[in-house]
Amino acid sequence: MKNSTVDDCKIIDIRRYSDSRGYLSVVENGIDIPFDIKRIYYLYMVPEVARGAHAHKQLQQLLIATSGSMDVIMDDGQEKKTFHLDRPWKGLLIPPGLWRDLENFSGGAVLMCLASEKYDAEDYIRDYDEFLKYKGVKE
Ligand code: TYD
Repeated sequence: MKNSTVDDCKIIDIRRYSDSRGYLSVVENGIDIPFDIKRIYYLYMVPEVARGAHAHKQLQQLLIATSGSMDVIMDDGQEKKTFHLDRPWKGLLIPPGLWRDLENFSGGAVLMCLASEKYDAEDYIRDYDEFLKYKGVKE
C-alpha cells in the first residue's frame, strides 16, 4: 500500500479474560484482527539497540508487547508517530507500506508479531531512500 499513512496504524484492545487466576488474552483469526495469521515471531533479549528499520510492501502485522515495553516509531515518509507498547492487552495494527523503527526495549521485554504472510525477504524495503521513492516522496 503505497498510500498508507501513520494514521492508518491503530492501537486495538485485545480481548482479555480475568479472574482470581490472572489474565488471559486471545487473538483469533476472523474475529479480532483484519487478516489471517500465517506467521508468529517474537523479539526478546534485545539489548540497547534499535531494530526494525524497514518497511513491508504487502505484510500486515499486529505487534504486542507480551512483556515489558518498547517504542515503535512508524513513518510514512512524511510523518512519524511513536507508539509506546507496554501492556499485553494492547496491540498495534500496522498496514503495509510503512517504515518502522523499534527502540527502547525495557529489560525482559518480549515483542510478539502476528503476521499476515510467511517470511518473504522480497517483501522488505530496507533502504530508507528506496522507501521514500516507493512512497513517491522522493524522485
Ligand atoms: P530482521 O528482519 O533483521 O529483524 P528485524 O525485525 O529487527 O528487522 O531478522 C533477523 C533475521 O531473522 C534475518 O536473518 C531474517 C530472519 N527471519 C526469518 O528467517 N523469518 C522471519 O519470519 C523473520 C521475521 C526473520
